[in-house]
Amino acid sequence: MIEAAIADLSGSTSTSALLPTKMVVADLGCSSGPNAVALVSIAIDAIHIHCLQFLQPPPEVCVLLNDLPDNDFNTVVKSLVTLHQSNNEPIVATGIVPGSFYERLFTSGSLHLVCSSNSLHWLSKV
Ligand SMILES: C[S@@+](CC[C@H](N)C(=O)[O-])C[C@H]1O[C@@H](n2cnc3c(N)ncnc32)[C@H](O)[C@@H]1O
Repeated sequence: MIEAAIADLSGSTSTSALLPTKMVVADLGCSSGPNAVALVSIAIDAIHIHCLQFLQPPPEVCVLLNDLPDNDFNTVVKSLVTLHQSNNEPIVATGIVPGSFYERLFTSGSLHLVCSSNSLHWLSKV
């Protein structure tokens, strides 16, 4: 689904498929376990592979991880270093956005891809 969403963002046709030169990816309800960076890692890899396939320079990617303020963000921050690619492609900047996804978390029109997994049975409210 993430790979398909990346292809959608590029308006993929058989001949052209350009992604924006700067992209912001967010995960809502990231938690703090091993899965905290799993979805955004998949998104970064999908962006990288897409750019290799269509001979496009990789975009700069900003990754934002959200969860409720009492989440263990200290642990999440330590996992974020794994997102920095060894060859620096794509360039990845990271950030934490504490708060409920029922409230405004981001400025309007600032996100390209939003992921969320396994949150439906764990919601802070229905
Ligand atoms: C079961 S965990 C899923 C963690 C991870 N996404 C995964 O797939 O393994 C659900 C997470 O959603 C978060 N969550 C629930 N309601 C939320 C809300 N209103 N805003 C932000 N995060 C929320 C919880 O704090 C919890 O960390």
